[in-house]
Amino acid sequence: MILIIDDDPSVTTSLALLLKQTGHPSQSASSPAEALALVERDNFDLVLQDMNFSRQTSGQEGIELLQQIKARNPNLPVILITAWGSIGLAVQGIRAGASDFITKPWTHQQIIQAVNTALGLAAANLARAPSQLPGRDELDARYNFKGLTGRDPKFLRVLELIGRVAATDASVLITGESGTGKELIADAIHRNSHRRGAPFVKVNLGGIPLTLFESEMFGHVKGAFTDARSDRKGRFEMADGGTIFLDEIGDLDAGSQVKLLRVLQDRTYEVVGSSTTRTVDVRVISATNRNLSEMVAAGQFREDLLYRLNLIAIHLPPLRERAGDIPLIANHFLENLAKVYRRENLSISEAAMRWLQNQPWPGNVRQLRHLIERTLLMSDKDLLEVRDYELTLEMDASDERRETLPQVGSMTIDEMEKAMIIKAMKHYAGNISKVAEALGLSRAALYRRFEKYGIKV
Ligand SMILES: Nc1ncnc2c1ncn2[C@@H]1O[C@H](COP(=O)(O)OP(=O)(O)OP(=O)(O)O)[C@@H](O)[C@H]1O
Ligand SMILES: [Mg+2]
Repeated sequence: MILIIDDDPSVTTSLALLLKQTGHPSQSASSPAEALALVERDNFDLVLQDMNFSRQTSGQEGIELLQQIKARNPNLPVILITAWGSIGLAVQGIRAGASDFITKPWTHQQIIQAVNTALGLAAANLARAPSQLPGRDELDARYNFKGLTGRDPKFLRVLELIGRVAATDASVLITGESGTGKELIADAIHRNSHRRGAPFVKVNLGGIPLTLFESEMFGHVKGAFTDARSDRKGRFEMADGGTIFLDEIGDLDAGSQVKLLRVLQDRTYEVVGSSTTRTVDVRVISATNRNLSEMVAAGQFREDLLYRLNLIAIHLPPLRERAGDIPLIANHFLENLAKVYRRENLSISEAAMRWLQNQPWPGNVRQLRHLIERTLLMSDKDLLEVRDYELTLEMDASDERRETLPQVGSMTIDEMEKAMIIKAMKHYAGNISKVAEALGLSRAALYRRFEKYGIKV
């Protein structure tokens, strides 16, 4: 049963009708007092709540009502309906415990999307084992976590969360340092969801030049712009029925953030060069190694977009915080590599394993895999020891230190920057994400420099 709270009877009536059509019975209340009485008396699954009552338009009454509902039933999900443009109020509401917000004028699609997501999430929360963390075997019996190695409690907590949220359609934001496994996690969510038979479309937002963002995401029709020689499908259309993975979401510029917000709000968009509005059924997972809350505070990322993306937050702890898993992961990589290089009897000495566990791993699991692979290629011994790993690490470091800075007066800063970018492009064989990471730039910033210096990718 859903509770609709609004002082405008035409709103409650139309919402009730829409909910009924989608299989959700509802009741209505026209004032905060009436709403609270109903919440105390009946068991609701969800509340849809307007923010403005009487003539007051600041929304404070709405915030108070939300707090009172939450005080009576903390687990009851509340979706706020706010006036267009009052994002500040919506954000305040989310902080006060609302699970989502919809801005007026809303579309049917938006309401249905928000209601289904909130109900799905609440169901997943209920299904959660109340007390202790399930073990790895238990998780493996319930879900498909193939390829995700680890038994550390911090990692198991992540797996448990994935299992619970996979069944819902809620947007998930995955955060964590570079190389912690964010992409693997996104893939696992899709694989364990009801969308598993439909596409999983990965989009690297840092790798799309500003001017191509819309056409890449939403597609274009032939003739939409000079280079549009034929119709092109956008990523959202490709992902229809499935999951879209928006990687490096922190690299989005302000204009693209607005364009993305719209499709996340109501799952509609327009193909570039066409005026018909399309609807898409897609689950959104995003990832970043940047701190989006800080970016919001610095005015670099839209707060409303962050809330849309972040219905569920999954944080992957860095490898050094789950060092207990290092032997497991190291052996997992060693086994795979042994097959690839046909060196069946490889192993890592106990001392070397302890040494591996004590490294800081700024590049996390990816760095561990690289070190194991490079060390194995450097040595023809079957038993790999501390000294072998130290040597590889030292070599990696001295590779980077060997060359010194050019003479003063021989180069401008711009020339140096250009040379450095070209060098990094060669070093990483044109892998944009690695180049950007090595130079400490966002991919968008790197692309701007490609343009500035006329570097062909
Ligand atoms: N728990 C794990 N078990 C096995 N392999 C893992 C695990 N976590 C990460 N890896 C491996 O480590 C590498 C890096 O993982 P992934 O690409 O998912 O990281 P990421 O967090 O997306 O990094 P970035 O921020 O740099 O994009 C991949 O080769 C992945 O297969
Ligand atoms: Mg990644």
